[in-house]
Amino acid sequence: MRKVTLHRSLIGQGPLILVNRKHALCGTGNAELSTYDAEYPDIYLERRAARLLSACIAEIHGGGKIVPVSGWRSHAEQQQLWEDTLRTNGEAFTRQYVAFPGCSEHETGLAIDLGKAASDIDFIRPDFPYSGLCQTFRRAALRYGFIERYARDKEEITGISHEPWHFRYVGAPHAQLMYENRFCLEEYTEWIREKERICTLENGRTARVFYLPCTGTHTDCELPDGCCQISGNNVDGFVVTAWGVGA
Ligand code: DAL
Ligand code: ZN
Repeated sequence: MRKVTLHRSLIGQGPLILVNRKHALCGTGNAELSTYDAEYPDIYLERRAARLLSACIAEIHGGGKIVPVSGWRSHAEQQQLWEDTLRTNGEAFTRQYVAFPGCSEHETGLAIDLGKAASDIDFIRPDFPYSGLCQTFRRAALRYGFIERYARDKEEITGISHEPWHFRYVGAPHAQLMYENRFCLEEYTEWIREKERICTLENGRTARVFYLPCTGTHTDCELPDGCCQISGNNVDGFVVTAWGVGA
């Protein structure tokens, strides 16, 4: 066991932060951004998410066929998008498809909108069908830690309409657990709070996932030996992902 102390500010950092209308992004978010493909120098993602997206698209030979529409957005860009969409499409549409400024996953660098390559791609609602290469991407992306974030049957919970094009990096064990249990991120955040969860990936690696409540400015905790990752949940604590010894 190792003792670590987590500062409260870490609640708003890491791949498992829940960002929605009820939980605005706290703090500065994930600061380290990079491009995922030199062909798209204006599209940024959090560094690890960028690397894994790049690997996933390479695996399915999706380069040039699956294209990025929108990655990281600054708060000012999200504000501008919100205002422009309000003006051109009205309030109901805007609330359905554009997150309120400060409450967008795009501001975290962990989300990307992808489109099927075409001469004319809709910036707000790009086409990303449940067939062909787009569906191949969707399946492969889980292994790289990306979930389709806004499912049709979760609209009541997420507050956002069905978005087949919006992918969110959470990390492979979490993507698998969410997929197997049909959870959106709001539900998953609650579920892992209840008790420790175990995930065995296709490659045989096993991860334990557990929640640590934030107990003040500094939270003292004990981590198991071996490789651990800690993420904030952007609500009230942290999530530890502990990989099995020898994995
Ligand atoms: N389209 C998603 C909900 C966003 O604006 O973050
Ligand atoms: Zn999006």
